[in-house]
Amino acid sequence: MRVADVGAAERLSAQAYLEVDRRSAQRAWPEPAPRSGERAADWHTRTEHLIRTDPGGCWVADRGGEVVGFATSLARELMWILASYAVAPDEHGSGIGRALLDAARSHGRGCLRAMLNASPDPRAVRLYRSIGFDLHPQMLLWGQVARADLPAPDRHVREGSPEDVDLLDSLDRRIRGAAHGPDHAVMGSLLRLLVTDRPAASGYAYVDATGVPLVLAATHRKAARALMWEALASSDPDVPVRVGHVTGANQWALDVAVEARLSIFGHGFLGVRNARVPAPYLPHPTFL
Ligand SMILES: CC(C)(COP(=O)(O)OP(=O)(O)OC[C@H]1O[C@@H](n2cnc3c(N)ncnc32)[C@H](O)[C@@H]1OP(=O)(O)O)[C@@H](O)C(=O)NCCC(=O)NCCS
Repeated sequence: MRVADVGAAERLSAQAYLEVDRRSAQRAWPEPAPRSGERAADWHTRTEHLIRTDPGGCWVADRGGEVVGFATSLARELMWILASYAVAPDEHGSGIGRALLDAARSHGRGCLRAMLNASPDPRAVRLYRSIGFDLHPQMLLWGQVARADLPAPDRHVREGSPEDVDLLDSLDRRIRGAAHGPDHAVMGSLLRLLVTDRPAASGYAYVDATGVPLVLAATHRKAARALMWEALASSDPDVPVRVGHVTGANQWALDVAVEARLSIFGHGFLGVRNARVPAPYLPHPTFL
């Protein structure tokens, strides 16, 4: 580059960054889609499960008999987890959100640690920081998995069964600080379970019907990569996958994304209190 090139480079830079800002302002990527009937049914199953296991963690805001907000949460061992939380858009900013969060948090009084997935909504982010959560940016991996680049299947990764639950719980205690306990019954009924269990490394992943690892825990990055590849290999070659909730502590997942030719976007935050960011680990969107 010469000094004479600076003018052209500046114009190019201004145009390129304007384009980046426009694209993020429009959220043109990945195209937001309404929740399908099937996903809505899974949401019912998970939430009814939480009302059974954690009635004191699940609250609604009621105005004249109409539900205008809700928060669901769970306590597992010494960890409190915010599962899902929203207020009706025409009621935003009137204090309902804070009241619901306080009610749900009271369920975690006896818990040392806490974890949540924060949406990019600035109201949610502000609330979580104000109650002491450390916020860690998360990434979203999106696109069609490049079939030509699929590695050979790892022969140590096998289908899991309910008999593996003790192994899963001990991995979760070690990696995320609490077992999933009763949530395995629901995850196992809705998702495919992959397990790798060897003296050198072990791990597991629950995988949805689109090939996305919805929760993944491993003792070593190599096992985590093998599990993620096995999940992605089951995706439909013509349908983009969407893997959310990847924190910076999980660069191994970004390496898989690069190799599978997925796009990497910033999206939301992992909030933790008195806990480190789990790795190698991909948190479940609801049960974390
Ligand atoms: C996040 C959400 C549940 C909060 O509910 P709410 O009823 O709007 O919350 P509140 O009225 O109690 O306000 C929360 C805080 O955000 C602040 N706030 C309001 N509008 C804001 C804005 N546009 N930007 C940033 N902060 C804002 C309020 O001042 C308040 O802070 P304060 O108590 O310190 O004054 C609600 O906005 C929502 O449903 N968002 C969409 C779904 C979502 O993202 N859920 C979170 C999933 S992790």
